[in-house]
Amino acid sequence: MTFETGQARGNQIGLLDGLMTNRAMRRYSDEPVADEDIWTCLEAAVQAPSGGNIQPYQFVVVQDPELRAGLAGIYRRGWARYEVAIAPGEFPNDSARDAWERNNRATVHLAENLEHVPVIVLLLMPTIDMTVHDEEGPMPVGPTHASVYPAIQNFMLAARSLGLGTALTTLHRIYEDDVRSLLGIPERYEVLALLPLGHPTGKWGVAPRYRGAERITSWDAFGEKRTP
Ligand SMILES: Cc1cc2nc3c(=O)[nH]c(=O)nc-3n(C[C@H](O)[C@H](O)[C@H](O)COP(=O)(O)O)c2cc1C
Repeated sequence: MTFETGQARGNQIGLLDGLMTNRAMRRYSDEPVADEDIWTCLEAAVQAPSGGNIQPYQFVVVQDPELRAGLAGIYRRGWARYEVAIAPGEFPNDSARDAWERNNRATVHLAENLEHVPVIVLLLMPTIDMTVHDEEGPMPVGPTHASVYPAIQNFMLAARSLGLGTALTTLHRIYEDDVRSLLGIPERYEVLALLPLGHPTGKWGVAPRYRGAERITSWDAFGEKRTP
């Protein structure tokens, strides 16, 4: 199957084309993002499913340059620690090395330039337990996160439809207390995700996935495979 990328500015793109060609965008121009577009993404986010429709999340949209610089500094500190801890020793082959290095260059670029991305959106999740109990005990119908990530994905897909790039990032969480104190976020919220939002300079396209749908899907019983 091939998918449209709608590369030209202002092109309308179908839902499936948009989501199939969406990917983590880590390089952005400094062109501002219209508030109207931010609102469209936020409105798309709140249309996502959540357990009991309770929407256990809030957003903080950060446009102020000093605050963006503050967030970028916190993110960079987390990234500097993390990248040392996960640095791969060796690769199975050259193409695996190339793919890792390509991805790593983009990751480094984002860490070094986050303050220049025009908008940074934070997703806050209250530390609540959504588990319901009865006399038989707890009914584990899903952690609170499960009601937040769909909103994050909706936000990112709405951005994609507007020709805006995002990347779901979490390295700021290593120093989450500093994020909370920079922006006055109450302690009861986790700062679940940090999304840069801007006009990407990279190209959309179907991103490589090493575990394709066929490989990780069973039909009727675990381990029963089919080919598409
Ligand atoms: C829970 C989660 C945390 C992530 N954290 C970061 C991050 O801190 N920094 C970053 O650059 N990318 C982060 N990513 C993005 C992933 O690296 C990216 O989605 C993955 O490599 C696939 O990218 P692609 O769609 O462009 O192939 C995160 C993704 C998820 C789902």
